[in-house]
Amino acid sequence: MRGKWKVLLVLVSLLAITAMIASCAAPTPSPTPTATSPTPTPTSPPPEVNALTVYHWWTSGGEKAAIDALVKVFATKYPDVAIMQTPVTGGAGFTMMGIIKTLVLAGDAPDAFQMHAGYEGKPYFDAGLLDPIDDLWKEEGLEAVIPEVVRHMCQFDGHYYSVPVNIHRVNVVWYNKSLLDKNGIDPTTLTTWDAFFAACDKLKAAGVQYPIQMGEAWTAAHAFEQIVASMGIDFYQDWINGKITAADDPKLTQALEIFKKYLSYVNPDHAALTWDDATKRIITGEGAFNIMGDWANGEFYVAKMTYGEDYGTFAVPGTEGMYGLCIDVFQHPKGVKHPTNSLRWLKVVASKEGQDAFNPIKGSIAARTDADISKYGPYQQSAIADFKVAKYMFPSVVHGSGAPESFKVKLSDIISGFTTDLDVNKAAQALTSYTKEISGEYTIQWSIK
Ligand code: BGC
Repeated sequence: MRGKWKVLLVLVSLLAITAMIASCAAPTPSPTPTATSPTPTPTSPPPEVNALTVYHWWTSGGEKAAIDALVKVFATKYPDVAIMQTPVTGGAGFTMMGIIKTLVLAGDAPDAFQMHAGYEGKPYFDAGLLDPIDDLWKEEGLEAVIPEVVRHMCQFDGHYYSVPVNIHRVNVVWYNKSLLDKNGIDPTTLTTWDAFFAACDKLKAAGVQYPIQMGEAWTAAHAFEQIVASMGIDFYQDWINGKITAADDPKLTQALEIFKKYLSYVNPDHAALTWDDATKRIITGEGAFNIMGDWANGEFYVAKMTYGEDYGTFAVPGTEGMYGLCIDVFQHPKGVKHPTNSLRWLKVVASKEGQDAFNPIKGSIAARTDADISKYGPYQQSAIADFKVAKYMFPSVVHGSGAPESFKVKLSDIISGFTTDLDVNKAAQALTSYTKEISGEYTIQWSIK
């Protein structure tokens, strides 16, 4: 329950990755002067150039439109700032996070970079590479408008280190409405895996070769994560707290069995598709279902599809009343070249104006509770309502929040292997032995019930 949501930061030995970052970290760059610094002398550092570099992985049609809208809000407020966007292709940030780590280690952190709330920022925090931004939270009055669950995920050791731009929901099934209508399938009945697979059988019998469309490795891990959530909140909590360590754990093997069955309805070329390629196949009607976060909604917008008429959604079977969280944040890395603009960017990201420009296009709901709901489409209005009454909220592992980064990466590899060998015991062994191997990295203990 939200009231009970708390994050217990357990002080244990630093993460392996943290140690790596700390040992390789470049010397702290000297402070950069502000634009109002006096004329530089030969010994003073150069004045701050009026620029802003922003790294993100928003490259699909809907994502690009959304970030452009946010950048426009910034550009309107600060017309003299040269904004350099660096979009890095690769969903869920799997590619970009590697690039960012290299830049940050080299003392060359961009002024702003997209990241997920929760664990993803922990190695940077532990290595002292982020500035606290409590003052910014105070000045902008954010505590009054950001829900508690999100506030906690933006903190380390009780201080704020990031601002959220949105709240994405991950446990969503997207469907092509005319395909379901044509085959007499009522999506409101698909609340169990049995009912869902029966619908897939019906579609197959009617000639829909691959009723479920899926994409590359991380999207398989994304689907598996939702199946784990469908095993119940106790199991999910244990999973993200590193407590599922027995390869014969009945819920773990059951989740893998369900995923195995799920894969029997999936397009065989999944590994070659990006997440938005897979979503497009629901738009075209090549497939009926796609489990994806609600950034998918942005692609339906781009395709000019109407929610409720052309497409629809339901909670992943077994997760009704649950809200799987994926929260995009920005932070203030130490030693950035344009600190003034970096802070200005954070303010725009956190603002009502910025969030109401970005999220209606992105598919997410605002991280702020005072968003102008009239700007959001019907899917998002229903998501806003669901968020308010959600019984449980769970942080996504695949999207950087719920578990240590190394587990997120390993999960994607193991699940990707599973999509070809379908070996339940092997995957269960691999997942649990890796959890044991990195037990010291579970420095955040979640209490999400
Ligand atoms: C991000 C979303 C993004 C999605 C696909 C997620 O991890 O939080 O903002 O749209 O990945 O790239």
